[in-house]
Amino acid sequence: SITEEQKNIVRSTAPILKENGKEITSIFYKHMFAAHPELLNLFNQTNQKIGTQPLALANTVYFAAENIDHLHVLIPQIKLIAHKHRALIVLPEHYPIVGKYLLLAIKEFLGEKATEEILDAWAAAYNIIAKIFIDLEQQLYDELGPDERDKGFVPLTIIKKENIASGPIVALTLERRDGGKMHNYHPGQYITFRIKKDGSFHNRHYSLLEPFDGKTYRIAIKDEIDQEPKGIVSNEIIDNYKEGDAILTSFPAGTFALIQDAKHHLFIAGGIGITPLSSLILELHKKNQIKSATLIHCVPTKEHAAFSNELKSILPENQYLLFCQGEKLGKDDLQKFLTPDTHVYICSSIPFMNKLEDYLAECNHPSSQIHTEVFQPSLSVLKN
Ligand code: HEM
Repeated sequence: SITEEQKNIVRSTAPILKENGKEITSIFYKHMFAAHPELLNLFNQTNQKIGTQPLALANTVYFAAENIDHLHVLIPQIKLIAHKHRALIVLPEHYPIVGKYLLLAIKEFLGEKATEEILDAWAAAYNIIAKIFIDLEQQLYDELGPDERDKGFVPLTIIKKENIASGPIVALTLERRDGGKMHNYHPGQYITFRIKKDGSFHNRHYSLLEPFDGKTYRIAIKDEIDQEPKGIVSNEIIDNYKEGDAILTSFPAGTFALIQDAKHHLFIAGGIGITPLSSLILELHKKNQIKSATLIHCVPTKEHAAFSNELKSILPENQYLLFCQGEKLGKDDLQKFLTPDTHVYICSSIPFMNKLEDYLAECNHPSSQIHTEVFQPSLSVLKN
């Protein structure tokens, strides 16, 4: 529990910590990984290098601390994170470790200013926040059922590996051969791969491409050879995995989903960001509601537009738009497709997403009708 006085201390010190989030979390990760190198198997080393993950964690703790009296406002973000944690098999016993090193980092950063009262207040706040995550994640593990709850990652076999667009973009179809069942999912969710390379495990989420067929999962991977730092898992699978090979996978997770009762849906994809959106569009098609969907896909060239034949054939005429490099998608292009009822779904890189969100704000489109999915840690709490 936390006292009123501790809450005040946490609220008044949160801004200092927030401003210095990057330094504090760098200290945090350095010490934590030194003491617990096994945790390197959990954290995405690419995101660590970019620095987005340390910031995401810090921001959430500080933001939660600032809102310690009304944490319910954070439920959507907390759910999103809890799904990612479950997908990566974050367990209750990990929380005290993160708590310990977060506190040590705060102490080291504040130096002499780190009084016992401040540190105790932060420990109390962390415990409350951690408890919310642990409980929510327990529910998600339980939903997997008693046989699967404790399994973690299971091997799925690649039954098909195909090139589907320039990039290259490669699609994998996977099935389970260990006797267990393939878990149902809703379009918009992802599965998580874990591969071993250079002595440690690396994990990465991939959106499921289509509504569940009861037997297989299908995902798409883009080669990230030009990107720095490189996407370790994506490149390894494209270069070295073939049909018949197995990949460790955790069961579908994620909160991104179609708004079921919306009258009109506008989907905007940047490049490979088409993957979760194609799944939602196919869901609408299955429900005979495809007329309510419009897709804008921004790609370098039309050869990079994955699923274009399929999506073009199901979407109504003039409701499938490709923007290739050089054709700038502007505010006016969006405005054309916005009605007060429109729900907008964006999946792209963060800079492009921020630009689109600015346009939508200029169009006075309500933010409650804008839904985003990113592949990097979303830093979603930052925007609040
Ligand atoms: C991801 C917050 C505890 C492991 C994240 C993200 C946030 C976050 C905001 C980014 C989600 C996104 O992708 O948008 C927190 C908070 C915690 C906590 C507030 C404590 C109350 C833990 C613990 C572990 C853990 C105990 C395990 C040791 C991870 C991992 C990721 C992640 C592995 C994925 C990030 C990556 O690989 O880049 N967490 N987390 N977290 N968290 Fe936590």
